[in-house]
Amino acid sequence: MAVLANQRHLFDIPDDVTFLNCAYMSPLMKSVQEAGIEGIRGKARPWTISPDDFFTRSEATRSLFATLIGAGASDIALVPSVSYGLATAARNISLARGSEIIVLEDQFPSNVYIWRKLAADSGARIRTVTRAEAAGAGNQTCNWAQAVVAAIGERTAIVALPHCHWTDGTLINLAAVGTAARKRGAALVLDITQSGGALPFDVEEIQPDFVVCACYKWLLGPYSLGFVYAAPKYHNGEPLEQGWIAREKSEDFANLVDYQDDFQPGARRFDMGERSNFHLMPMAETALRQILEWGVANIAETLGALTSMIAARGTALGLISAGPEERAGHFLGLRFAGGVPDGLVDHLKAQNIYVSVRGDSVRVTPHLYNTDKDVERLLAALEKMS
Ligand SMILES: Cc1ncc(COP(=O)(O)O)c(C=O)c1O
Repeated sequence: MAVLANQRHLFDIPDDVTFLNCAYMSPLMKSVQEAGIEGIRGKARPWTISPDDFFTRSEATRSLFATLIGAGASDIALVPSVSYGLATAARNISLARGSEIIVLEDQFPSNVYIWRKLAADSGARIRTVTRAEAAGAGNQTCNWAQAVVAAIGERTAIVALPHCHWTDGTLINLAAVGTAARKRGAALVLDITQSGGALPFDVEEIQPDFVVCACYKWLLGPYSLGFVYAAPKYHNGEPLEQGWIAREKSEDFANLVDYQDDFQPGARRFDMGERSNFHLMPMAETALRQILEWGVANIAETLGALTSMIAARGTALGLISAGPEERAGHFLGLRFAGGVPDGLVDHLKAQNIYVSVRGDSVRVTPHLYNTDKDVERLLAALEKMS
């Protein structure tokens, strides 16, 4: 693993902007913007778009995301959002009455509402693992995995989790949870939107049933695009839509009304309609290529060093954060002993410093464009407020 050099020059971020809010939405690299603009230009001249273009860019992008998580291209579907991806997962997991779906306290709503609906429709119930359970008797450290493993029982049918908590970056040891879920025959469904691209993740190691990831945060890509990994046992499953492009022989435009019952191989059956989006897909492809070139482990190492430094200096100001082994390196949640000061986000914004508040945490989520100057500006502003 290596600490990467600063990459701010690749982005379009003015010098006086301190953007520490990648968990909200990443900025785009200039190359990614260009790819999008080129895609829009292509659509302005549709005679330049060939039937092949409906397939080549989306297949390339599918493969790149597959590489990122250690999967094969045929395990990946292209979707518009996490909600859509998780609805696909829910459609394909059947629940017995009285079974349980495990989620975390304050989990992101797209990974909660769908399970509430499925539970209501199936006579199942939601089992929410609380922060108090994760903190254990000593109430000191946050060990989500231990609490989730303790909650997994014979009624557990689905364990629906992130890789790190979206409010404060606290980590979930997915290998441990996966082992416990498999022992009970429960499905493991993951939303890695707040970690995919910044924290190494490997499907071979974790053996999830479904993984969903939005493109617009740590994948540094566009909004309204995401990916679903579906384990091979779901490759004969039921898609949400019945579109044409996911069907066998859809490359043959002249004969599309030769209706096909069979689908394109693997998880492609779960692709959204109009998945070949001519500006979003090249943007995602360009961003993923760059992330793979940097290497996710190197990104994690670099951002981990940065947030550890902010955390240590925050501690000196009386700010509280999870220890380095309890949280994901790219993701820092800072807590004030007396609660987040009123108007903190607006106060920082007035100084061109961007973070967000989720629950009682100030989320500080950097990327390779952040500099030492950004760190100094944030800490100086926080010092005045603490
Ligand atoms: C953990 C997590 N999942 C998903 C999303 C986005 O969900 P959707 O794609 O359903 O809008 C977010 C956005 O903040 C998120 O933080």
